[in-house]
Amino acid sequence: MQKISLHPSGPELSRIIVGAWRWTNESAPQIEQLIQTSLDKGITAFDHADIYGNYSCEENFGNVLRANPSLRNKLQLITKFGIKLLSDKRPEHKIKHYDTSASHITWSVENSLKMLATDRIDLLLIHRPDPLLNPAEVAETFSTLKQQGKVLHFGVSNFTTTQFEMLQSYLPFPLVTNQIELSLFRNEPFFNGDTDVMMKHRIRPLGWSPLGGGKFFEDERIKELMSRLCLKYGISAMQLLLAWLLKHPSGVLPILGTTKPERILEGADAINIELDKQHWFELLRAVNGKDVA
Ligand SMILES: NC(=O)c1ccc[n+]([C@@H]2O[C@H](COP(=O)([O-])OP(=O)(O)OC[C@H]3O[C@@H](n4cnc5c(N)ncnc54)[C@H](OP(=O)(O)O)[C@@H]3O)[C@@H](O)[C@H]2O)c1
Repeated sequence: MQKISLHPSGPELSRIIVGAWRWTNESAPQIEQLIQTSLDKGITAFDHADIYGNYSCEENFGNVLRANPSLRNKLQLITKFGIKLLSDKRPEHKIKHYDTSASHITWSVENSLKMLATDRIDLLLIHRPDPLLNPAEVAETFSTLKQQGKVLHFGVSNFTTTQFEMLQSYLPFPLVTNQIELSLFRNEPFFNGDTDVMMKHRIRPLGWSPLGGGKFFEDERIKELMSRLCLKYGISAMQLLLAWLLKHPSGVLPILGTTKPERILEGADAINIELDKQHWFELLRAVNGKDVA
């Protein structure tokens, strides 16, 4: 699997990432199998957030690393902070809210390090734009964490281009990505400037829900076209959707959300598919219901 740098200064990640959001009912041996299958296929980057699985996914993943310490140096860990959920694990939260204060960033990083059984986070993202975000405070806290070697790179998630550039203007080092929802079914970022601004900054998007969360495989708008193209290329529907995303020049890194090792193998093979330009536009037209202008 090809390794790709999110920014000229790093980090280097596998072109396909695996996300742990849906790994909520998986046992430790199942999680270990998902990690091992990914690594065997060259997928080395794993996407987390503190809140996944009601604050349990990081710890479950970390337990596998604790039991197999040699795994840590073979993979890259992405995690996020900033959303505070109503949860039995966080009784002090009285309302769902965001927190990007220095004290919460520091606490959350220490907690993620502990949960993930690691001494460093390869890439830390602000999960959602926080209306109360103080950019100078965030910049100072990120700088300290970087100097301490606890977080190697920083980015954001679900930010608008304006929010991204505002925060970047306060930082002495680059934000290396904006993780956004990106798929054939959520293709607006290819038109509204979201991916253009990342290209302007020489960084790459991470695309969440690249298969639309798995809801569209039976979608009548594209079912027939997908079957025809799958047959033509000799690939699966999942691979077609990933090939569509991978063709974009922003160099998006799709984050697979599957809970099945065999789908990780299937998804990884999508990087070798070169989709014809006219097929790309045919799929776009089928989903958007109209030709481009
Ligand atoms: N930053 C954010 O705000 C944010 C938000 C959401 C997600 N994320 C990240 O993005 C990752 C991926 O998101 P996602 O899980 O929505 O991605 P996804 O890959 O679009 O969807 C995964 C879902 O699709 C199903 N699926 C896959 N192939 C299928 C097929 N051939 N037929 C039917 N169903 C199929 C999977 O089921 P199986 O498990 O049965 O394969 C799973 O339920 C998450 O793990 C998380 O790391 C980030």
